[in-house]
Amino acid sequence: MNTTTTMASPRLTSLSRGAGCGCKIPAADLHALLGELKLPRDERVLVGIDTGDDAAAIRLSDDLALVQTVDFFTPIVDDPYAFGAIAAANALSDVYAMGGTPLSALSILAFPLERLGGEILKSILDGALDVLGEAQTPLVGGHSIEDPEPKFGLAVTGTIDPGHMLVNTGGRDGDALVLTKPLGTGAIATMAKHGEVPPELLARAVEVMSTLNRTASACALQAGAHAATDVTGFGLLGHLHAIARESGLCAQVRAEAVPVLPGVEQLLAREQAISGGTRRVAEWAATFTNFSPDVAQWRRWLLADATTSGGLIVAVPADRASEVPGHVFGTLTGGPAGIIDVG
Ligand code: CO
Ligand code: CO
Repeated sequence: MNTTTTMASPRLTSLSRGAGCGCKIPAADLHALLGELKLPRDERVLVGIDTGDDAAAIRLSDDLALVQTVDFFTPIVDDPYAFGAIAAANALSDVYAMGGTPLSALSILAFPLERLGGEILKSILDGALDVLGEAQTPLVGGHSIEDPEPKFGLAVTGTIDPGHMLVNTGGRDGDALVLTKPLGTGAIATMAKHGEVPPELLARAVEVMSTLNRTASACALQAGAHAATDVTGFGLLGHLHAIARESGLCAQVRAEAVPVLPGVEQLLAREQAISGGTRRVAEWAATFTNFSPDVAQWRRWLLADATTSGGLIVAVPADRASEVPGHVFGTLTGGPAGIIDVG
Protein backbone atom coordinates (compact mmCIF):
# COMPACT_ATOMS: atom_id res chain seq x y z
CA MET A 1 0.00 0.00 0.00
CA ASN A 2 1.15 3.54 -0.75
CA THR A 3 1.64 4.92 2.75
CA THR A 4 2.06 8.52 1.62
CA THR A 5 -1.38 8.48 0.01
CA THR A 6 -2.92 6.87 3.08
CA MET A 7 -1.38 9.38 5.47
CA ALA A 8 -2.61 12.33 3.44
CA SER A 9 -6.12 10.94 3.10
CA PRO A 10 -8.84 11.42 5.71
CA ARG A 11 -9.87 8.34 7.67
CA LEU A 12 -12.50 6.38 5.75
CA THR A 13 -14.97 6.33 8.63
CA SER A 14 -14.65 10.10 9.09
CA LEU A 15 -16.34 10.55 5.70
CA SER A 16 -19.52 8.72 6.64
CA ARG A 17 -22.35 9.71 8.95
CA GLY A 18 -23.56 6.17 9.71
CA ALA A 19 -21.37 3.11 9.49
CA GLY A 20 -21.92 -0.31 7.99
CA CYS A 21 -25.44 -1.70 8.29
CA GLY A 22 -26.00 0.93 11.01
CA CYS A 23 -26.77 3.36 8.18
CA LYS A 24 -29.93 1.45 7.19
CA ILE A 25 -33.19 3.40 7.03
CA PRO A 26 -35.07 2.62 10.30
CA ALA A 27 -37.18 -0.55 9.98
CA ALA A 28 -40.38 1.06 11.24
CA ASP A 29 -40.21 3.88 8.65
CA LEU A 30 -39.30 1.48 5.85
CA HIS A 31 -42.08 -1.01 6.60
CA ALA A 32 -44.68 1.77 6.71
CA LEU A 33 -43.60 2.99 3.27
CA LEU A 34 -43.38 -0.49 1.74
CA GLY A 35 -46.86 -1.25 3.06
CA GLU A 36 -48.26 1.50 0.83
CA LEU A 37 -46.72 0.15 -2.36
CA LYS A 38 -48.79 -1.72 -4.91
CA LEU A 39 -46.60 -4.76 -5.46
CA PRO A 40 -47.32 -6.81 -8.57
CA ARG A 41 -48.35 -10.44 -8.07
CA ASP A 42 -46.27 -12.95 -9.97
CA GLU A 43 -46.45 -16.65 -9.23
CA ARG A 44 -42.78 -17.13 -10.15
CA VAL A 45 -41.84 -14.97 -7.14
CA LEU A 46 -41.46 -17.50 -4.31
CA VAL A 47 -40.08 -14.97 -1.83
CA GLY A 48 -40.63 -11.26 -2.40
CA ILE A 49 -40.62 -8.04 -0.42
CA ASP A 50 -43.54 -8.71 1.91
CA THR A 51 -42.01 -11.20 4.38
CA GLY A 52 -38.86 -9.18 5.10
CA ASP A 53 -36.66 -12.08 4.02
CA ASP A 54 -32.94 -11.70 3.36
CA ALA A 55 -33.15 -12.30 -0.37
CA ALA A 56 -35.74 -12.77 -3.08
CA ALA A 57 -36.33 -16.16 -4.70
CA ILE A 58 -37.65 -16.51 -8.23
CA ARG A 59 -38.65 -19.92 -9.57
CA LEU A 60 -36.89 -21.04 -12.75
CA SER A 61 -38.04 -24.67 -12.70
CA ASP A 62 -39.54 -27.12 -10.19
CA ASP A 63 -36.23 -27.74 -8.46
CA LEU A 64 -34.35 -24.53 -9.18
CA ALA A 65 -34.86 -20.92 -8.14
CA LEU A 66 -32.74 -17.81 -8.45
CA VAL A 67 -31.81 -15.91 -5.26
CA GLN A 68 -31.16 -12.18 -5.53
CA THR A 69 -30.00 -9.65 -2.97
CA VAL A 70 -28.18 -6.32 -2.79
CA ASP A 71 -26.33 -4.72 0.11
CA PHE A 72 -24.08 -1.67 0.32
CA PHE A 73 -23.03 0.76 3.02
CA THR A 74 -20.63 3.44 4.18
CA PRO A 75 -17.21 2.52 5.67
CA ILE A 76 -17.45 0.60 8.93
CA VAL A 77 -13.66 0.59 9.42
CA ASP A 78 -10.77 2.77 8.23
CA ASP A 79 -8.82 -0.06 6.60
CA PRO A 80 -10.06 -0.11 2.98
CA TYR A 81 -9.17 -3.78 2.44
CA ALA A 82 -11.15 -4.79 5.55
CA PHE A 83 -14.06 -2.57 4.47
CA GLY A 84 -14.20 -4.40 1.11
CA ALA A 85 -13.93 -7.82 2.73
CA ILE A 86 -16.68 -7.05 5.25
CA ALA A 87 -18.98 -5.61 2.58
CA ALA A 88 -18.54 -8.76 0.47
CA ALA A 89 -19.12 -11.19 3.36
CA ASN A 90 -22.17 -9.14 4.33
CA ALA A 91 -23.66 -9.14 0.81
CA LEU A 92 -23.07 -12.87 0.33
CA SER A 93 -24.63 -13.54 3.72
CA ASP A 94 -28.17 -12.84 2.53
CA VAL A 95 -27.87 -15.72 0.04
CA TYR A 96 -26.51 -18.06 2.73
CA ALA A 97 -29.26 -16.96 5.12
CA MET A 98 -31.81 -18.37 2.64
CA GLY A 99 -29.91 -21.65 2.29
CA GLY A 100 -28.76 -20.71 -1.21
CA THR A 101 -25.45 -20.93 -3.07
CA PRO A 102 -23.98 -17.70 -4.46
CA LEU A 103 -23.31 -17.73 -8.19
CA SER A 104 -22.06 -14.27 -9.20
CA ALA A 105 -21.71 -10.72 -7.89
CA LEU A 106 -21.88 -7.15 -9.21
CA SER A 107 -20.22 -4.31 -7.32
CA ILE A 108 -21.87 -1.04 -6.30
CA LEU A 109 -19.41 1.72 -5.60
CA ALA A 110 -19.68 5.39 -4.67
CA PHE A 111 -16.28 7.01 -4.18
CA PRO A 112 -14.50 10.38 -4.06
CA LEU A 113 -11.67 9.30 -6.38
CA GLU A 114 -9.81 12.60 -6.49
CA ARG A 115 -9.87 13.07 -2.73
CA LEU A 116 -8.97 9.51 -1.68
CA GLY A 117 -6.99 8.22 -4.64
CA GLY A 118 -6.99 5.00 -6.60
CA GLU A 119 -4.94 2.96 -4.13
CA ILE A 120 -7.69 3.04 -1.53
CA LEU A 121 -10.29 2.14 -4.12
CA LYS A 122 -8.17 -0.78 -5.28
CA SER A 123 -7.74 -2.01 -1.68
CA ILE A 124 -11.51 -2.01 -1.15
CA LEU A 125 -11.97 -4.12 -4.28
CA ASP A 126 -9.05 -6.42 -3.33
CA GLY A 127 -10.71 -7.12 0.02
CA ALA A 128 -14.01 -7.89 -1.67
CA LEU A 129 -12.37 -10.09 -4.32
CA ASP A 130 -10.57 -12.19 -1.71
CA VAL A 131 -13.82 -12.92 0.12
CA LEU A 132 -15.69 -13.55 -3.13
CA GLY A 133 -12.89 -15.95 -4.12
CA GLU A 134 -13.35 -17.81 -0.85
CA ALA A 135 -17.06 -18.07 -1.69
CA GLN A 136 -16.22 -19.19 -5.26
CA THR A 137 -18.30 -16.31 -6.54
CA PRO A 138 -16.95 -14.42 -9.56
CA LEU A 139 -17.31 -10.63 -9.70
CA VAL A 140 -18.82 -10.11 -13.14
CA GLY A 141 -19.38 -6.35 -13.31
CA GLY A 142 -20.66 -3.37 -11.42
CA HIS A 143 -21.36 0.33 -11.38
CA SER A 144 -19.47 3.21 -9.80
CA ILE A 145 -20.20 6.89 -9.22
CA GLU A 146 -18.35 9.90 -7.79
CA ASP A 147 -19.62 10.65 -4.28
CA PRO A 148 -18.06 12.59 -1.37
CA GLU A 149 -19.27 9.86 1.00
CA PRO A 150 -17.82 6.44 0.08
CA LYS A 151 -20.19 3.51 -0.19
CA PHE A 152 -19.53 -0.03 -1.29
CA GLY A 153 -21.41 -3.27 -1.64
CA LEU A 154 -22.55 -6.00 -3.96
CA ALA A 155 -25.61 -7.33 -5.69
CA VAL A 156 -25.36 -11.10 -5.41
CA THR A 157 -27.16 -13.71 -7.47
CA GLY A 158 -27.40 -17.29 -6.28
CA THR A 159 -29.28 -20.52 -6.80
CA ILE A 160 -31.49 -22.43 -4.40
CA ASP A 161 -33.66 -25.53 -4.22
CA PRO A 162 -37.21 -24.14 -3.76
CA GLY A 163 -38.05 -27.13 -1.56
CA HIS A 164 -35.23 -26.32 0.88
CA MET A 165 -35.31 -22.60 1.52
CA LEU A 166 -34.68 -21.12 4.96
CA VAL A 167 -37.43 -18.50 4.87
CA ASN A 168 -38.71 -16.30 7.70
CA THR A 169 -42.13 -17.97 7.63
CA GLY A 170 -40.76 -21.46 8.36
CA GLY A 171 -40.15 -21.38 12.13
CA ARG A 172 -42.05 -23.95 14.25
CA ASP A 173 -43.22 -24.09 17.84
CA GLY A 174 -40.42 -25.61 19.93
CA ASP A 175 -37.58 -24.78 17.54
CA ALA A 176 -34.29 -23.94 19.21
CA LEU A 177 -32.72 -20.62 18.20
CA VAL A 178 -29.01 -20.71 17.41
CA LEU A 179 -26.76 -17.69 16.78
CA THR A 180 -23.64 -18.50 14.77
CA LYS A 181 -21.45 -15.41 15.41
CA PRO A 182 -20.95 -13.39 18.60
CA LEU A 183 -22.60 -9.94 18.85
CA GLY A 184 -20.90 -6.64 19.59
CA THR A 185 -19.34 -5.59 16.28
CA GLY A 186 -21.56 -2.50 16.09
CA ALA A 187 -20.36 -1.23 19.47
CA ILE A 188 -16.74 -2.00 18.58
CA ALA A 189 -16.95 -0.20 15.22
CA THR A 190 -18.63 2.79 16.86
CA MET A 191 -15.93 3.09 19.54
CA ALA A 192 -13.20 2.51 16.96
CA LYS A 193 -14.54 5.55 15.13
CA HIS A 194 -13.82 7.51 18.33
CA GLY A 195 -10.37 5.89 18.43
CA GLU A 196 -11.17 4.12 21.69
CA VAL A 197 -10.84 0.44 20.90
CA PRO A 198 -7.70 -1.65 21.46
CA PRO A 199 -6.31 -2.79 18.07
CA GLU A 200 -6.70 -6.49 18.93
CA LEU A 201 -10.41 -6.03 19.70
CA LEU A 202 -10.98 -4.22 16.41
CA ALA A 203 -9.03 -6.93 14.58
CA ARG A 204 -11.25 -9.61 16.15
CA ALA A 205 -14.38 -7.71 15.09
CA VAL A 206 -13.06 -7.36 11.52
CA GLU A 207 -12.35 -11.10 11.47
CA VAL A 208 -15.90 -11.88 12.65
CA MET A 209 -17.47 -9.50 10.11
CA SER A 210 -15.34 -10.88 7.24
CA THR A 211 -16.24 -14.49 8.00
CA LEU A 212 -18.62 -16.11 5.53
CA ASN A 213 -21.88 -17.59 6.76
CA ARG A 214 -21.37 -20.44 4.29
CA THR A 215 -20.60 -23.17 6.83
CA ALA A 216 -23.38 -22.01 9.14
CA SER A 217 -25.82 -22.16 6.22
CA ALA A 218 -24.72 -25.63 5.09
CA CYS A 219 -24.96 -26.98 8.66
CA ALA A 220 -28.39 -25.41 9.13
CA LEU A 221 -29.70 -27.10 5.97
CA GLN A 222 -28.09 -30.40 6.99
CA ALA A 223 -29.68 -30.18 10.46
CA GLY A 224 -33.16 -29.73 8.96
CA ALA A 225 -33.49 -26.08 10.04
CA HIS A 226 -36.89 -24.47 9.44
CA ALA A 227 -35.92 -20.80 9.20
CA ALA A 228 -32.87 -18.57 9.21
CA THR A 229 -31.87 -14.95 8.81
CA ASP A 230 -28.67 -13.01 9.31
CA VAL A 231 -28.14 -10.38 11.99
CA THR A 232 -27.42 -6.99 10.43
CA GLY A 233 -28.59 -3.41 10.93
CA PHE A 234 -31.80 -4.22 12.80
CA GLY A 235 -29.91 -6.05 15.53
CA LEU A 236 -30.63 -9.50 16.96
CA LEU A 237 -34.04 -8.34 18.22
CA GLY A 238 -35.12 -6.81 14.92
CA HIS A 239 -34.15 -9.81 12.80
CA LEU A 240 -35.49 -12.37 15.28
CA HIS A 241 -38.73 -10.39 15.34
CA ALA A 242 -39.08 -10.92 11.57
CA ILE A 243 -38.79 -14.72 11.94
CA ALA A 244 -41.18 -14.83 14.90
CA ARG A 245 -43.74 -12.52 13.28
CA GLU A 246 -43.70 -14.28 9.91
CA SER A 247 -43.83 -17.72 11.57
CA GLY A 248 -46.80 -16.66 13.74
CA LEU A 249 -44.86 -17.45 16.93
CA CYS A 250 -43.21 -15.66 19.80
CA ALA A 251 -39.58 -16.01 20.88
CA GLN A 252 -38.05 -16.68 24.28
CA VAL A 253 -34.50 -15.38 24.61
CA ARG A 254 -32.02 -16.08 27.41
CA ALA A 255 -29.93 -12.91 27.39
CA GLU A 256 -26.95 -14.55 29.08
CA ALA A 257 -26.81 -17.29 26.45
CA VAL A 258 -26.34 -14.82 23.59
CA PRO A 259 -22.69 -15.03 22.47
CA VAL A 260 -20.74 -11.77 22.74
CA LEU A 261 -17.26 -10.66 21.72
CA PRO A 262 -14.80 -10.14 24.60
CA GLY A 263 -14.49 -6.54 25.78
CA VAL A 264 -17.94 -5.52 24.56
CA GLU A 265 -19.51 -5.49 28.03
CA GLN A 266 -17.06 -2.74 29.04
CA LEU A 267 -17.69 -0.78 25.82
CA LEU A 268 -21.47 -0.92 26.21
CA ALA A 269 -21.20 0.62 29.67
CA ARG A 270 -20.39 3.87 27.86
CA GLU A 271 -22.96 6.10 26.14
CA GLN A 272 -20.55 6.73 23.25
CA ALA A 273 -20.65 3.07 22.19
CA ILE A 274 -24.36 3.19 21.43
CA SER A 275 -24.69 4.29 17.81
CA GLY A 276 -27.69 6.17 16.44
CA GLY A 277 -28.59 3.01 14.54
CA THR A 278 -28.58 0.94 17.74
CA ARG A 279 -30.74 3.52 19.54
CA ARG A 280 -33.29 3.41 16.73
CA VAL A 281 -33.36 -0.41 16.86
CA ALA A 282 -33.83 -0.35 20.65
CA GLU A 283 -36.68 2.15 20.38
CA TRP A 284 -38.44 0.06 17.71
CA ALA A 285 -37.73 -3.24 19.51
CA ALA A 286 -39.40 -1.87 22.66
CA THR A 287 -42.73 -2.22 20.79
CA PHE A 288 -42.37 -6.03 20.63
CA THR A 289 -39.84 -6.96 23.35
CA ASN A 290 -40.48 -7.67 27.04
CA PHE A 291 -37.33 -7.59 29.17
CA SER A 292 -37.29 -9.32 32.53
CA PRO A 293 -36.18 -6.70 35.12
CA ASP A 294 -32.96 -8.59 35.87
CA VAL A 295 -31.56 -8.32 32.31
CA ALA A 296 -28.54 -6.00 32.56
CA GLN A 297 -28.68 -2.74 30.60
CA TRP A 298 -25.57 -3.54 28.57
CA ARG A 299 -27.16 -6.80 27.38
CA ARG A 300 -30.27 -4.89 26.31
CA TRP A 301 -28.05 -2.65 24.17
CA LEU A 302 -26.21 -5.72 22.87
CA LEU A 303 -29.43 -7.33 21.62
CA ALA A 304 -30.19 -4.11 19.70
CA ASP A 305 -26.60 -3.64 18.46
CA ALA A 306 -26.82 -2.44 14.83
CA THR A 307 -24.63 -5.14 13.36
CA THR A 308 -22.74 -5.46 10.10
CA SER A 309 -22.19 -8.90 8.60
CA GLY A 310 -23.44 -10.74 11.69
CA GLY A 311 -24.08 -14.44 12.06
CA LEU A 312 -27.17 -16.44 11.24
CA ILE A 313 -30.13 -16.84 13.58
CA VAL A 314 -31.21 -20.42 12.86
CA ALA A 315 -34.54 -21.93 13.97
CA VAL A 316 -33.85 -25.65 14.13
CA PRO A 317 -35.49 -28.71 15.76
CA ALA A 318 -34.22 -28.63 19.36
CA ASP A 319 -32.73 -32.14 19.22
CA ARG A 320 -30.55 -31.15 16.27
CA ALA A 321 -29.45 -27.69 17.45
CA SER A 322 -25.94 -28.94 18.30
CA GLU A 323 -25.32 -29.62 14.59
CA VAL A 324 -25.33 -25.87 13.89
CA PRO A 325 -22.03 -24.21 14.91
CA GLY A 326 -22.96 -21.50 17.40
CA HIS A 327 -24.85 -20.94 20.63
CA VAL A 328 -28.44 -21.86 21.49
CA PHE A 329 -29.89 -18.66 22.94
CA GLY A 330 -33.64 -19.26 22.95
CA THR A 331 -36.70 -20.97 21.51
CA LEU A 332 -39.72 -20.25 19.36
CA THR A 333 -43.00 -20.93 21.14
CA GLY A 334 -46.72 -20.48 20.64
CA GLY A 335 -47.92 -17.01 21.61
CA PRO A 336 -48.51 -13.58 20.15
CA ALA A 337 -46.73 -13.41 16.78
CA GLY A 338 -43.50 -11.46 16.81
CA ILE A 339 -43.31 -10.87 20.56
CA ILE A 340 -39.88 -11.50 22.13
CA ASP A 341 -39.53 -12.27 25.85
CA VAL A 342 -36.01 -11.74 27.14
CA GLY A 343 -35.10 -13.30 30.48
CO1 CO B 1 -30.14 -10.24 5.84
CO1 CO C 1 -29.64 -6.89 3.23
